[in-house]
Amino acid sequence: MSGNLLNTSLLSISKSEKYTIAHQQLQELLNGESDSIANLGNAMALLKQTFSWWWVGLYRVEGEELCLGPFQGPVACTRIAYGKGVCGSAWKQAQTLIVPNVHEFPGHIACSAESQSEIVVPIFNNDQVIAVLDVDSENLDQFDAEDARELEIFCASLVPYL
Ligand code: SME
Repeated sequence: MSGNLLNTSLLSISKSEKYTIAHQQLQELLNGESDSIANLGNAMALLKQTFSWWWVGLYRVEGEELCLGPFQGPVACTRIAYGKGVCGSAWKQAQTLIVPNVHEFPGHIACSAESQSEIVVPIFNNDQVIAVLDVDSENLDQFDAEDARELEIFCASLVPYL
């Protein structure tokens, strides 16, 4: 992977170009390794490194709750019940949720006081939600439909490792 190129060139490129790079680099990572923990950990690091978001991580479905998986960022809450918070709501609704201001989301779970906006992307296997990707930003209104579309594509590649 061209890590130096990534680190030195990201400041000046558009969000869509960043997604193009992230998709390419994810495929390079996954093609070279089959270990689930390695691949999920690197996938989260790739998003954090590319977009400099505050917190990026996975919660996996375990029975009636979500359990924290590989992530990048500050320490986070470990378990989230079905339908609770943004993550549990995205799981229950089985759709991506974009929250421009987390303080206006009823039941938002504040793992970090810095978080201002959030996107949660459910990850499906055979129509079942098996995990969610959660991304937090310290900026209000960070995420839009492009993020939803691109992160859904990104997450689809992670299904074999969840
Ligand atoms: N804010 C999330 C909880 C997870 S942390 O942000 C990492 C929620 O409301 O579900």
